Parts: sequence; C-alpha cells; structure tokens
Amino acid sequence: MKNVGILGLGHYLPQRRLTNADLEKIVDTSDDWIFTRTGIRERRLAGKEEKTSDLAIKAALEALKNAQIKAEDLDLIIVTTISPDSNFPSVACLVQKAIHAKKATAFDISAACSGFLFGVTTAKQFLQNGMYKNALVIAAEKITNLIDWNDRTTCVLFGDGAGACVLGPGNGDHAIISDYLHAQGQFGGLMSVQADEGEPLDKESNMLRKPYVVMQGKELFKIAVNSMAEAVEIAVEKAGLKLADIDCVVPHQANDRIISAVAKKLNLAKDKIFINIDKYGNMSAASIAVALYEAVEQKRIQKGHHVVLVTFGAGLVSAANVVRW
Ligand code: ACO
Repeated sequence: MKNVGILGLGHYLPQRRLTNADLEKIVDTSDDWIFTRTGIRERRLAGKEEKTSDLAIKAALEALKNAQIKAEDLDLIIVTTISPDSNFPSVACLVQKAIHAKKATAFDISAACSGFLFGVTTAKQFLQNGMYKNALVIAAEKITNLIDWNDRTTCVLFGDGAGACVLGPGNGDHAIISDYLHAQGQFGGLMSVQADEGEPLDKESNMLRKPYVVMQGKELFKIAVNSMAEAVEIAVEKAGLKLADIDCVVPHQANDRIISAVAKKLNLAKDKIFINIDKYGNMSAASIAVALYEAVEQKRIQKGHHVVLVTFGAGLVSAANVVRW
C-alpha cells in the first residue's frame, strides 16, 4: 500500500459578512443569544450570482498552487457538497472544465458536514491502491441557499465557503495515517432539507418556496458530542497513538459548545483544539477544510505534529482522520 499525504491546501471565503447584529434585523434574536449558545459572531454569504462551483474553483486553484501541481496533471477530482449548483452536472465536473483538468475523472460526494473527510478518505483509497497518483478534494457550500431566513433556530448557524486539498504520494510529511467513516441512518430525520407542503408559496415573491434546512438541534447536539468523541478515539487508536500524543484537533465547526463538550468527554485541553466558528459559522463540509487551512497558516499545526480531523453531519455521518504533519 502506498503512503498518501496532503501536498497543498486552499480555501475561499465570500466577501460579504453577515454579523449577528445584521441577523437581529431579520429575525427575533440577539448577538448575546447566538454567541453564548453557538460561539458564532459572523458568517460569510456568497453573492447572488456566486455559485458553489465558483467557490470550489477558487479554493481548488489555491490548493493546486500550494501543491505545485498543474491542473492538467490531476487524476481525480472529488467535490463534497450538499449545496451543488444543480442536481447535475456534478460540481466536480464543473470544476474539471473550469480548471482544464482534462485527464482527471470527477464526481461529487454527499456526506453533509462530514463531506470533506469522506472525500479525503475516498480519494486516499484510489491513491493507496495505485489506480491514481494524485487527487484534488474540494469541500464547497453555498448552504445559505438552503436556509429559511424566517427560521431563527437555523438561519443564525450557517455560512458559505470552500476549502480544498491536493493529495499525492506521501514521503513522510503530512501523511494521512488513519481513517474512520461511520453512518447512523436511523437519525437521518433529525436534520434534513424539506419543502414546506403546508405553505408552498413564499409570502413575498408568491413563488414556490425553495427547499430549506429543518433540524432538531437539541437531539443533534447530544449525538454530535458522542459521535465526535468516539470518532477521535477510534481514529487515534487505529493510528497506533494515544490521546496524549495528539498536538492539535481540528473539529467540525457546528457549535462551540459541542466542541467544548467533546473536549471535556475526551479530557483534552481546549487549547489543543482549533476553533474559527466565530468568524464563519457552520459551513457544512467546508468548515473543517477551512479550519485546517487556517490552523496551518496560524502555525497551530507544525511539522511532526499529530493532528486529528473530526466531524459529524446530517445523515447522520461522522468521520475522523489522523494526519502526521
Ligand atoms: N435567537 C433567540 N432565541 C432562539 C434562537 C435564536 N436564534 N433560536 C432558538 N431560540 C429560542 C428557542 O425558541 C427556545 O425558546 P423557548 O425556551 O422559549 O422555547 C430557546 O431559545 C432555547 O432553544 P433550544 O433549541 O433549546 O437551544 P439550544 O441551547 O439547544 O441551542 C442550537 C440551539 C444552537 C441549535 C443547539 O441545539 C445546537 O447547536 N445543536 C446542534 C445543531 C447542529 O450542529 N446542526 C448542524 C448539524 S451538521 C450538518 O450536517 C450541517
């Protein structure tokens, strides 16, 4: 089996910021409620004309540049998203066309907030068994397109963004040394995208309402804490390590209180955990990709560190990887 490593990272965040104060003007909420319950101060909003593929392309180009790999040399492109431009073509094919990655095959993966790690682990299999030499994995979400802006229980939580990585032969650095993927379909009803059958027309535009996210936050919260803690323990054990060997944990950024509860359950110091939810909210699959990018940029992750990436999302699906940086 060949070793696989992360050769380069990229990210893209839309310009427009939506602060908690802005949300106070849209729904009955407050900066204090949002910040104390979630840790979020602001999030980014993609422009009206900006599609998920546009975010994906920008993150991809930066990752390719950092990996010093040309698009035409790519073998595989995987995009992980739950907010694609449309049902088809896949966002991965749109990216392939835009960056002229003529040789690459391309497909999307849907694993909600766990998408990036599902994408990385899937791509890793192709590289490990020698079918492909390199892969571009992108997590991109314009999830605010799926939000009911009248629903204060969900609209305060989410933001748009994209992150990407190029995977290739690992020569020791940035090697992915363990993987864990898990699904609990029995909890799928706790978070889904629905069209409101009872009130199908939008009050203002009189047009058919777009499908939007509904969720049972309290129930999700408890399962998220248990699933993420379990995922960390399994991935660390599979890597042949102990929790004490871990230098940095990069978790999915759904709620700062979920992250604190996971840290408490695992008896991990919170300063070992990278958090940027205050700036971006929950960007679904893109959260962990952007967090990894920033943790490296801010030197919270350094050469030789053992890093755990861990996530959970609608499905429900959870995942973790250990990377030796
Ligand atoms: N502003 C003000 N008040 C609010 C808001 C708001 N934005 N939202 C809810 N409230 C009110 C509720 O109506 C409720 O009022 P009541 O007591 O009068 O009924 C009160 O605040 C408490 O509401 P809870 O739902 O009990 O609040 P909780 O402490 O559970 O926090 C939250 C809610 C933040 C959603 C939390 O449960 C959570 O983060 N859950 C996990 C959700 C999650 O991670 N989802 C993403 C899944 S990942 C993926 O795949 C995309």
